[in-house]
Amino acid sequence: MRVTYPAPDVVALGEAAPIPGLGFLPVNAYLLRAEQPLLIDSGLPTSRTEFLDALWSHVDPADLRWIYLTHPDRDHTGSLMEVLRAAPSARLITTFLGMGILTIEYDIPPERAFLLNPGQSLDLGDRSLTAFRPPVYDSPATTGFYDTRTGTCFTSDCFGAPMVSAEYALADDIAEVPPNELVAGQRLWATVDSPWVTGVDRDAFRASLLPLRRLEPSVVLSSHLPAAHDAASQLLDTLESAPDAEPFVGPDQAALEALLAGFEPPSPA
Ligand SMILES: [Fe+2]
Ligand SMILES: [Fe+2]
Repeated sequence: MRVTYPAPDVVALGEAAPIPGLGFLPVNAYLLRAEQPLLIDSGLPTSRTEFLDALWSHVDPADLRWIYLTHPDRDHTGSLMEVLRAAPSARLITTFLGMGILTIEYDIPPERAFLLNPGQSLDLGDRSLTAFRPPVYDSPATTGFYDTRTGTCFTSDCFGAPMVSAEYALADDIAEVPPNELVAGQRLWATVDSPWVTGVDRDAFRASLLPLRRLEPSVVLSSHLPAAHDAASQLLDTLESAPDAEPFVGPDQAALEALLAGFEPPSPA
């Protein structure tokens, strides 16, 4: 768990998750220290103890008011129930679909939920947040949002990239990653996480990027990328090229068996 401070009022709780064959995927949750503190996603299930230790050292559970779940994938819900139990005033911001998916696995009282659709805003006391649908996503429940006070934009899975090393995955800024590796990682991730991107109408896809281009956020915080400062147009240019990337095809059974054979210990002489 790496704790950083990538933008005003933002604490990042970051990890590097190794994915065989792809590299190291940054997995970031964030705490927005607004007048009404807000947690954005809740880390990996495998690192719950470290996640909760880091979170509660930055906010008192009694003060946490909101948990913004960008979508109910397992890499975003790791400590969700533990946080809801520890923070009795916190309400879970999700969508109708997000709530529906969560209730398959979790028992969340409806009065703890707050449904926010793209285009809608929520008052956090000293600022508000406005939700939007990122241009690429892997769940129908996905939303991101921007902070109307600072302009910081939280984009969920969008703009993610597996990195060639854990060090790059945990970098303070994407500027530390060699540009060619960054572009390759982002194009790969777009085809892995949103495989439909290679079949989109190019003009319609380009048009879907315009709202973020106009917003031009000074800080972009993705769930799966180091912080990006003053780089929104660069990120959007890379994403605009994703429909031209090779469609991703995962390893098949033969490749898996070849991989496992490589792991077998040498037979005794
Ligand atoms: Fe996802
Ligand atoms: Fe994710």
